Amino acid sequence: MVTDLTSKLGTIELKNPITTASGCFGSGRDLDKLWDVTDIGMVVAKSVTLEVREGLPTPRMAEVSSGMLNAIGLQNPGVDAWLETELPWLVSRGAPVLVSVAGKTVEDFAECARRIAAKAPAGAGHGPAQPGVVGLEVNLSCPNVENRGLVFACNAAPAAEVMAAVREAVGPDLPIFGKLTADTTSVPEVAGAVLEAGANGLTLINTLLGMEIDWWSGQPALANTYGGFSGPAMRPVALRVVHQVATAFPGVPIIASGGVRDAKDVIRFLRAGASVVAFGTANFENPTAAPDALAELSDLCQQIGVERVADLIATVTPRPKPEAFL
Ligand SMILES: Cc1cc2nc3c(=O)[nH]c(=O)nc-3n(C[C@H](O)[C@H](O)[C@H](O)COP(=O)(O)O)c2cc1C
Repeated sequence: MVTDLTSKLGTIELKNPITTASGCFGSGRDLDKLWDVTDIGMVVAKSVTLEVREGLPTPRMAEVSSGMLNAIGLQNPGVDAWLETELPWLVSRGAPVLVSVAGKTVEDFAECARRIAAKAPAGAGHGPAQPGVVGLEVNLSCPNVENRGLVFACNAAPAAEVMAAVREAVGPDLPIFGKLTADTTSVPEVAGAVLEAGANGLTLINTLLGMEIDWWSGQPALANTYGGFSGPAMRPVALRVVHQVATAFPGVPIIASGGVRDAKDVIRFLRAGASVVAFGTANFENPTAAPDALAELSDLCQQIGVERVADLIATVTPRPKPEAFL
């Protein structure tokens, strides 16, 4: 039995459900020396912004137990340079790309999205994924400079405002995904607002805000004091959020992100309700984590007894209730 690994992310048809998490893969140039970036379903690239960003002062990364902290500050060459250099390289390799956009203001997001959408081929994001832009991932975990630096994704209204502006900027057809944070009281509430504002799907979740302190000097491990916590320790949080949102909005296309390390984790997130699963921090520990998982996925599906990986989506088996609670 050959397992059918094809995966539908809304209208985007991918050859398998594996992707990269934004910022943990660059545009893929380095890892493409180790494995073919077109082996995975699609590439999610590092977030780009309207302007060039140098990023935050160092140290910007710190290893902590079962994960890492980062405060890179969205270092990137700016959207125009990215479209001139990185996108053509990804197209030349034949990779479908979900382009991640970030911004400090609603208008930043919209303008950045408009420039990317202008480079998307006709019909992008509909049918079998072609090389180049297949859609946008909107990184809503950015501080809003027009609202005291509060992160857009922490509240439904600002998150929805960004999504509505991006939808208007890219037109009705290009798929857009809102990337949310779990650093908020109710992710389903923010998810609902973002979907209402025009998102085709969601990426769940970005890093969790964290901190590490050197016990001797008392200094924070990061120059920025706080940073995004990622890696295996956050997987249960991400799994919970994917399940909560998939339960609240059945059938909504979800890209899962948070602590994914291997093929079993991919299956866990598919079962929770995701359609596509992203490898992030795992790339730093094992640069072949994504293709390794891909190689193992068919065998695990056969062990479970499913012929199509898509049949695993939203298949959490309820545990029988203990008799006392029946
Ligand atoms: C070094 C680093 C840089 C990241 N940069 C971005 C980014 O530019 N845009 C974004 O949306 N997420 C970014 N993330 C978050 C990841 O895409 C991912 O959602 C998060 O790390 C959780 O997944 P993981 O545990 O598999 O890494 C970054 C994460 C790391 C570790």
